[in-house]
Amino acid sequence: MNSRKIQSFCEEYGIDRKQTNCLKWDCLQERFGNKDLLPMWIADMEFKAPKATREAMIERIEHGVFGYTCIPDSYYDAYFEWQNSRYGVGLKKEWIRFSQGVVQAFYAMIDLFTEQGDSVLFLTPVYYPFFNAVKDQKRHLVTLELDSEKGNYTLDFEEFERKIVEEKVKLFIQCSPHNPVGKVWTKEELTEIARICKKHDVFIVSDEIHQDILKKGVQFTSALNLDASYFNKLIVLNAPSKTFNLACLLHAHIVIPNKQLRAQFDAYANIHLKSEPSLMGVIATEASYRGGKEWLDGLLEVIDANFDYLEETLALKAPQIVLSNRQGTYLAWLDLSAYVEPKQLKEFIQDKCGLAVDFGSWFSPNTKGFVRLNLATKPEYVQQAVNKIVENLQK
Ligand SMILES: Cc1ncc(COP(=O)(O)O)c(C=O)c1O
Repeated sequence: MNSRKIQSFCEEYGIDRKQTNCLKWDCLQERFGNKDLLPMWIADMEFKAPKATREAMIERIEHGVFGYTCIPDSYYDAYFEWQNSRYGVGLKKEWIRFSQGVVQAFYAMIDLFTEQGDSVLFLTPVYYPFFNAVKDQKRHLVTLELDSEKGNYTLDFEEFERKIVEEKVKLFIQCSPHNPVGKVWTKEELTEIARICKKHDVFIVSDEIHQDILKKGVQFTSALNLDASYFNKLIVLNAPSKTFNLACLLHAHIVIPNKQLRAQFDAYANIHLKSEPSLMGVIATEASYRGGKEWLDGLLEVIDANFDYLEETLALKAPQIVLSNRQGTYLAWLDLSAYVEPKQLKEFIQDKCGLAVDFGSWFSPNTKGFVRLNLATKPEYVQQAVNKIVENLQK
């Protein structure tokens, strides 16, 4: 850990977001019933975007025209170079479509590739809008809980195949890396998932929004790294928004390698997703991919250091809290059930510790004793949050 680098990153980019119409800080009363909580919830950061990103946006603002726009070749070059140099993913321009966000995109994929009543599967605990996307669109929800052993999460492939067959699953949504448990799927695991899905003719929608947030030494594998024979029913969703803190620029990629699926998507988009790409999203994304590498290195150091602090403090002061083995994402997933009754968790976290968190019950009915903490923030906030938890457990 390089503490000087962490300090200088936080000094240069750390920012107070209060009273900026910030959902995380300014809507605590509305969301949690208490405006004075320390917000450790929702997945964005207390860090400004890279300098190169902001400069490119300012230049466009100074230009002063925000009319209809096209996406330059330089955009694709920057995006493809990012994917290729970091992950060995080879993209083609004709594969790429745009949406205003990954959530919008997976809602659309379910709508397009399944009918009402069809079964859609995902692995829990998971990012809670997956549940809404299936239920809101009147599809049949099928979930499979990941197995966990001391914070290590694995998939029971036999059970996965059994669910697919028994429930006649049509579409599987993969969360890769997996929010909230922080698992980065290996190539072997992804291949086995793809093999089973192919065998049973199941679409895979792979949400790879967290792909760039990796613990030091961990390698990310995209579904697009798999053999092309698995591409016939594959859609990959990725975006610069988690990586560079750009969520409200409303810009994400839908990658569709198969020509026939692309034609289906285009016909669908023509009716249901009629909008231009986000101008500022395009500008910020290209600039981030070109000039944001060093910034990202700094950010990842901060996240790793925050996780280390959390892990060490819990090991010392609350050793029965089970902390997930985070390989990716900036999220920490904690099982507090050895200390706090799930029924009392809200009272403990909010009233005693003064924290706003994402509660485990939002991610799975089986994780009511868990909380998710966001580590993409200033170390002092993580320290404050962790210390509040351990102090109150000791009381
Ligand atoms: C797995 C996952 N998918 C999608 C999103 C949100 O995507 P967007 O803001 O592009 O709709 C998040 C945000 O936390 C996420 O964790």
